[in-house]
Amino acid sequence: MKYGPLVNYTEKILYMIIKNIKELATCAGNIVTDAAILIDDEKIVAVGKNSEMSSRKGDQIIDAFGMIALPGFVDCHTHAVFGGSRAAEYDAKLRGMSYAEVQKRGGGILYTVEQTRKASEDELYEGAKMRLREMLLCGTTTIEIKSGYGLSTVEEIKILRVVKRLELSEPQDIIATFLGAHTVPREFKNAREVYIDLVIHEMLPRVAKEKLAECADVFCDPLGFTPEETEKIFTEALRLGFKLHIHGEQTTHFGGAKVAAKFGAVSLDHGDYLDDDDISLLKNSGTTVVLLPGVLIHCMDWGKTKLAETVVKLKAAGVPIAFATDYNPGSAPILSMKLVMDLGMRLFKMGVMECLGASTIIPAKVLGREKSVGSIESGKQADILLIKAHSTEDYLYQIGDRRFDYIIKKGKVVSL
Ligand code: NIG
Ligand code: FE
Repeated sequence: MKYGPLVNYTEKILYMIIKNIKELATCAGNIVTDAAILIDDEKIVAVGKNSEMSSRKGDQIIDAFGMIALPGFVDCHTHAVFGGSRAAEYDAKLRGMSYAEVQKRGGGILYTVEQTRKASEDELYEGAKMRLREMLLCGTTTIEIKSGYGLSTVEEIKILRVVKRLELSEPQDIIATFLGAHTVPREFKNAREVYIDLVIHEMLPRVAKEKLAECADVFCDPLGFTPEETEKIFTEALRLGFKLHIHGEQTTHFGGAKVAAKFGAVSLDHGDYLDDDDISLLKNSGTTVVLLPGVLIHCMDWGKTKLAETVVKLKAAGVPIAFATDYNPGSAPILSMKLVMDLGMRLFKMGVMECLGASTIIPAKVLGREKSVGSIESGKQADILLIKAHSTEDYLYQIGDRRFDYIIKKGKVVSL
């Protein structure tokens, strides 16, 4: 792409120029070698060859000294606001206890609900802020956060208010999702219809009215809600204007994918037990499958699934695939999108650039933010990661997180 002379040049406008980038993975379909990026305030103005971009006196220059550049990572599925810790239950898991069994014995989601209810709004905020800072250092510049550990109107709203505060205080772009239908809380154990009514007639309208979330999610699973119950909740959520996500086909094949397709959900997350019929339905509904490799490894469920084959089928059908951490205290204590890519690459046999796309532009589409984030293109927000590496391919091939030399969010260098 040619950069050419500056349009609307005036002495007053100062730019940031990142020059001497060895390889720039735009995630818009190409890699530019010997590249430079021109940034005006929060936005990218031009992406081009280093030799074609000249700076002027007063411009802020970042010399990348041959580093590689990538778009900031987009994590489209997290449960980053919660109280307590579930480290203790891992011992039981290591001894072979399943996720379902742990839940039945008082651990799992309901334990976190108990701890989250006990925590004050400030405590939840401080805990989540620390996690978001870690995620930023790992390169995540846009993040979705779900509620779902409150499970009452007051407690769900408490969590979503924390998310709002994080939106204001943290550098990342944050997208809030209401997950009141995560599981049935203890006090409604014998009255699940009453709880579902509460979600539909009280929680969803309140969350919509107070504009506390733009998406709604349901855990459609034997541990959560049936497909019929999910449909009831989705009908109201859709009517109120929420975008829909679903935790589906996670612990068994249960019918979540069919509901996702019927309601045009933007994403079906997990998908460990998707079958061929599900894939044909998702193909036509424009739903992205969000794979969560951290969960598979942490819960040691990988061997039970046929996900590597499913991924081949999803790709053949043209169903978009995104990655996410699913960061939460129980099934995925994993903050890093790089580590998710490392695992995804090996578990699903996906190429390095496929994994990068699954962690940037595709999740940006899932979150409806593809016009502003997810790739390095003129007109988009300047969310850029710079790191010394032999090449983009080699950076992605190496396992684990390495410290970025620069993390730039909305045109500002994040101080590390
Ligand atoms: O995405 N499946 C349901 N919800 C989360 C787990 C939440 C938890 O274990 O606390 C998930 O895996
Ligand atoms: Fe989740």
